[in-house]
Amino acid sequence: MPADEAYCNTGTIGASPLRVLHAVVDHMVKSMVEVAHVDWRGGGMSLLSGYSSYKELRTKIGELINADYSLIALTQNATMGMNLLANGLDLPAGSGVLITDIEHPGGRCGWELLAERRGTTLHKAKIPIPSESPEQIVDAFEDAIRPETRVMSFPHISSAHGIIMPVRQLCSLAREHGILSIIDGAQATGHIPIDVKEIGCDAYYSSPHKWLMAPAGNGFLYVKETLIDEVWTTLASSQWNNHEDNGYRLGQRGTGNPALLVGLEAALDLHFEIGPERVYRRIKELGDRLRRGLGQVEGTEIVTPVHPEMSSGLTTFKVDGVEGKALQNELWRRGKIQPRALGEDRGVRYSTHIYNSEDEIDRTLQIIGELT
Ligand SMILES: Cc1ncc(COP(=O)(O)O)c(C=O)c1O
Repeated sequence: MPADEAYCNTGTIGASPLRVLHAVVDHMVKSMVEVAHVDWRGGGMSLLSGYSSYKELRTKIGELINADYSLIALTQNATMGMNLLANGLDLPAGSGVLITDIEHPGGRCGWELLAERRGTTLHKAKIPIPSESPEQIVDAFEDAIRPETRVMSFPHISSAHGIIMPVRQLCSLAREHGILSIIDGAQATGHIPIDVKEIGCDAYYSSPHKWLMAPAGNGFLYVKETLIDEVWTTLASSQWNNHEDNGYRLGQRGTGNPALLVGLEAALDLHFEIGPERVYRRIKELGDRLRRGLGQVEGTEIVTPVHPEMSSGLTTFKVDGVEGKALQNELWRRGKIQPRALGEDRGVRYSTHIYNSEDEIDRTLQIIGELT
């Protein structure tokens, strides 16, 4: 990436490092060069992805989220993870599913389909914007729980507003009411620390092509040991009934590009080399710098919480009199800075990752100062 260009839209897709990209491309080239050498009963490179167990890769994902590999299924992305759960839990008609009113479609539409097709009901907790405290969010869920609620499904970090949700408290609330808790971690993997055991969720799915900087086309789904056996798979292939390795069973998806999994592994290796905690600290430090700076520019409104536990690398803000798309355009025109306009005048969402810098944030603040 040219040094004078600032990419600030990791919330949509991460900028994969060359090491990851080379791993993908090298695998694709080598696998075709050596295609005639591959013994289909084992030996040689992997030519297909959706049929194999990938135990080693799933073990590395397990290290990242503190779970055994057998509880982790490889998917294509977060959307696929949430659909595997919505369709696989076999919820009877009349069961209630509680989500938030700020879901990404990838965390919402599987539940909408279920309501239409199977007669479950869908209700929503109203999340205050901007949210001021974790308690406010827990209260919003507590108010929205109904006698029929069987599932609570919510993001770890919300897409448009960058709210880090109080997931541990929400899972504990769900448990108290005998409700399953499902977390959409699309914006969290490679961003903030994730420990599914500590969080206490029943299931967690994610898209590592954002903050983990893996190539797009990868995802994972974790389901707790006491629940995974009961989840039907939606995509059945040769291992559809393998209850010895439930993650393998749920990850059946036919032929795909194995080079993408090689890329995912390279991204995980890099992440572990740098250190997940160190990555998180840097992302947060840059996000805090942006939020602090915006707080000092008159005419700006920060939509993301400024509460220290509730925000990290995503910052959504508005500038008086400058519509989101116009603001995005001005940041690019004046400073080669590329965040993302959210549309419908919901402002701009700005991502800070380890490939961003203090200088880029300061340039951003200066341009915003000129516009107000
Ligand atoms: C919170 C959240 N959930 C789900 C998704 C959907 O991810 P994917 O398109 O990779 O399935 C996104 C994508 O931006 C997201 O931000």
